[in-house]
Amino acid sequence: MKWIYSVSLAVSLAMQPAFADDLFGPHPMTEQARDAFVNQLLSKMTLDEKIGQMRLISVGPDTPKSAVRDMIQHGQVGAIFNTVTRQDIRAMQDQVMQLSRLKIPLFFAYDVVHGQRTIFPIPLGLAASWDLDAIAEVGRVSAYEAADDGLNMTWAPMVDVSREPRWGRGSEGFGEDTFLSAQMGSSMVKAMQGKSAADRFSIMTSVKHFAAYGAVEGGRDYNTVDMSPQRLFQDYLPPYKASLDAGSGGVMVALNSLNGTPATADSWLLKDILRGDWKFKGITISDHGAIKELIKHGVASDPQDAVRIAMKSGIDMSMSDEYYSKYLPGLVKSGAVSMAEVDDAARHVLNVKYDMGLFNDPYSHLGPKESDPQDTNAESRLHRAEARDVARKSIVLLKNWRETLPLKKDATIALVGPLADSQRDIMGSWSAAGVAKQSIPLLQGMRNAMAGKGTVLYAKGANISDNKGIQDFLNLYEQAVSVDKRSPQELIDEAVAQAKKADVVVAAVGEAQGMAHEASSRSDLVIPPSQQKLLAALKATGKPLVIVLMNGRPLTVVNEDKQADAMLETWFSGTEGGNAIADVLFGDYNPSGKLPVSFPRSVGQIPIYYNHLPTGRPYNFAKPNKYTSHYYDAVNGPLYPFGYGLSYTTFTVSPVKMSSRTMPRNGSVEASVTVTNSGKRDGATVVQLYLNDPVASISRPVQELRGFQRIMLKAGESQTVKFKIDVDALKFWNQKMQHIAEPGKINVMIGLDSVRTQDAQFDYL
Ligand code: BGC
Repeated sequence: MKWIYSVSLAVSLAMQPAFADDLFGPHPMTEQARDAFVNQLLSKMTLDEKIGQMRLISVGPDTPKSAVRDMIQHGQVGAIFNTVTRQDIRAMQDQVMQLSRLKIPLFFAYDVVHGQRTIFPIPLGLAASWDLDAIAEVGRVSAYEAADDGLNMTWAPMVDVSREPRWGRGSEGFGEDTFLSAQMGSSMVKAMQGKSAADRFSIMTSVKHFAAYGAVEGGRDYNTVDMSPQRLFQDYLPPYKASLDAGSGGVMVALNSLNGTPATADSWLLKDILRGDWKFKGITISDHGAIKELIKHGVASDPQDAVRIAMKSGIDMSMSDEYYSKYLPGLVKSGAVSMAEVDDAARHVLNVKYDMGLFNDPYSHLGPKESDPQDTNAESRLHRAEARDVARKSIVLLKNWRETLPLKKDATIALVGPLADSQRDIMGSWSAAGVAKQSIPLLQGMRNAMAGKGTVLYAKGANISDNKGIQDFLNLYEQAVSVDKRSPQELIDEAVAQAKKADVVVAAVGEAQGMAHEASSRSDLVIPPSQQKLLAALKATGKPLVIVLMNGRPLTVVNEDKQADAMLETWFSGTEGGNAIADVLFGDYNPSGKLPVSFPRSVGQIPIYYNHLPTGRPYNFAKPNKYTSHYYDAVNGPLYPFGYGLSYTTFTVSPVKMSSRTMPRNGSVEASVTVTNSGKRDGATVVQLYLNDPVASISRPVQELRGFQRIMLKAGESQTVKFKIDVDALKFWNQKMQHIAEPGKINVMIGLDSVRTQDAQFDYL
């Protein structure tokens, strides 16, 4: 493919001075060659040019194109984010080649979190597929589309484990479980980076937000995180580590403080752990404005101090603040920051540029001008089939009373709810360069499925919220939700009239995408009252009620669970969401998704997660006792547990067979079950392995996910599913922070969710 780009490369190289001749490749993609190249380059750079490499900016009102041009000319910028078309990217790379002294290519980054032009389900939904092949598909398509737009890096995957549904950013992550998040994150990294981040259709990943951002107190965004070292190492760090072991070239540093130290100022985290223990060689990038925020965090006295601390802590590149450029020269002059420290940071930036292949060809993700797409959002650039395939797999069937689902296509169906016809909301948060008008809302999806057979009667039924404050919050920067001017009662009356004419009612309710986003923390998790009133009125019609939830976090839906005859969790399902949901509603696809998070019954239960520690006074439902660990006004357990999800068929799981009753030191055992599709339809399910160490030197969780396999079974078919358990699955961080496996009994639980399991035991010798 390389020859395609030779035209633009030749043009740009012709304009370069002598030094640039050896600057541009072909360079061997080895660490040794890279180090030699980067050292040579560094030796030719002035201090200002080095500092320039450490600056990452977004073109916008604060940094207009003219200012960027100026910065490029003076070598004051290393990378750009939020610019997403080949034309714009090319213009800036041309400026580097034409105007700057050293012609060090820029790299271009963007938040490609769940798709670029084609939007896949939000990551929380992707996690619900428990399907690593699907994740790889999302990664490959996203990287392809992003690279085709000229991008080199994404700020993804986000692998912040979160047990905090009030936090809006849980939508961007893979849920509450460490093992699942680690598997998802590493699969995404491998798929996006491909064989090499330098390849034409690969992009480099930047795993975020390091570390433990998902544990912000009270679920309030940007808030403090405080946790024991055991919990940090056992539950929160492994997904970052797994993503880095998978080769992620970048790390974005979290905005929160961890045990009192803001991550941006945490040399223990960024140097001792990341570079020391984990041997990370890539680039660390501060989050948006985080260096400045060190002052507000109360650890830096002034801008100079903030820069000094960030540098000493190991922040290579600053995102969207001018502090490095402004204050580093003075700090180096005064000796407060050494040249070696600047060199280290600049070296990391140059290293990743080398790894992105930018010194082989600064235009490698651009190609010649003539190849630029006429229409960036052309339909032909989308990957709809892949999006639909993955979206179907992410949908979780929560309830299906008397087989209400699947629906018949030749029926009359009332489709109501503020999310039924919303092209924008269905794309979810961080929908990159996705265009709302290209997404399929549920109304369109159902019409497509029922065309020529049945009838859909649509009514909005309610606004997302009747609360003016919430409406204004959602519409702060743009008209994100449209507010119907009719009164709530008029909207409900119209919906009820449609419901009365129908055989069955489908209600699409939940959250607007802006309710589950950055800076979108909630203090309750209910479906907004406007929509609750609608559901009550629909229920009163006596028609079968199917609730289709669209949301970016677990919601408290105890009442809706009672009202609904059937309920689907569809998250924000992306460009093809409406078609995918219709596939499930009408049985063209048999749902197989499983919850990657526990669904609390109320906010009061938070934090609620399946892998909690035992207490000294466990509550026994069969033998209640006042002085045991429980609420007197609510049950302890979630409404829907982790790993839960129904199907249109039924599955049975045999007792567990162990290959041996004992596992030798550092050896392994195998646990297996036979899963049978005992129903009438073909279907997929996810077999889950949980382990528990019932007696250890510190309390260990009542169960922890240690393996899963998604299997497809024809009606009546059986399959034996085997899990190899080795010593790594038993290891934990003890009180002295040693990572060990202790001899003793280990409980094995295998099931199709975290609650109903078949159990066995073995001895670790
Ligand atoms: C977010 C990051 C994101 C960055 C760039 C920040 O506000 O916390 O997750 O990557 O903006 O868009």
